[in-house]
Amino acid sequence: MARRQARRDGAAIMSALLSIDAVSKRFRGLLAVDNVSFRVAQGSIFAVIGPNGAGKTTLFNIIAGMSAPDRGSIAFAGERIEGLTPDEICRRGIGRTFQLVRPFPALSVEDNVAIGAMLHRHDPALARRRAHEVLKQLDLFGKRHQPASALTLPDRKRLEVARALATDPKLPSSPRSTVRPGLPSF
Ligand SMILES: Nc1ncnc2c1ncn2[C@@H]1O[C@H](COP(=O)(O)OP(=O)(O)OP(=O)(O)O)[C@@H](O)[C@H]1O
Ligand SMILES: [Mg+2]
Repeated sequence: MARRQARRDGAAIMSALLSIDAVSKRFRGLLAVDNVSFRVAQGSIFAVIGPNGAGKTTLFNIIAGMSAPDRGSIAFAGERIEGLTPDEICRRGIGRTFQLVRPFPALSVEDNVAIGAMLHRHDPALARRRAHEVLKQLDLFGKRHQPASALTLPDRKRLEVARALATDPKLPSSPRSTVRPGLPSF
C-alpha cells in the first residue's frame, strides 16, 4: 500500500509543473514560512493568499532563487531547483514580478522589456519584436520610448508584468495583481 501511495505521489510530483514540499524558512527567531507544501499543475492558476507578514513574498523569493529554504524541496518541470541562482531559475521558465517594482529606471520602457526577451533570443531585432508584442498586450506600446522612471506606478507594475512575460515563462508568477482587470491573469 505504502509503496503504491509513494508511486502515486512520485507520479503527481512528476506531472506537476511546480512542486513545493515541506518548505520552511526562518529569519532568526521568526518562522516566516512553516512547512509549506503544494503542487501547481500545468495550465492552472494557483494563488497563495494570506495576511500581511504571512510569508508570501518570502516563499516567492525562495521559489525564484533569491533565498534558499532552510528545509524542504522545490521541483519545477520534474527537476529540483532549490539552491539554483535566480537567473538559472528564470532560464528554466519561472518568470516573476516584484511587489516593489524594479525596472531599469533610465532605460526606455521598450528596452526594459527587450532585455527580458533576450533571455531566449540572442538577436536584438527578434527581442525587440517580442517586446513590441508584449507591450501591445499590456497597453504600453504607446509609451515605449519613455524612460521607465516616467511611468506612473500602475504602469510600472504593468511594465514589471511585461518584462516577466517577455522571458516566455512556463510559470509566470506575480504578487497581488494590481494591474488592470482584463490583462493576462496570474
Ligand atoms: N530578510 C528578512 N529578514 C528578517 N525578517 C524578514 C525578512 N523578510 C521577511 N521577513 C519577515 O518575515 C515575515 C514574512 O514576510 P513576507 O514579506 O514574506 O510576508 P508577506 O506575506 O509577503 O506580507 P505582505 O502581504 O505584507 O507582502 C514578516 O514578519 C517579515 O517581517
Ligand atoms: Mg509580500
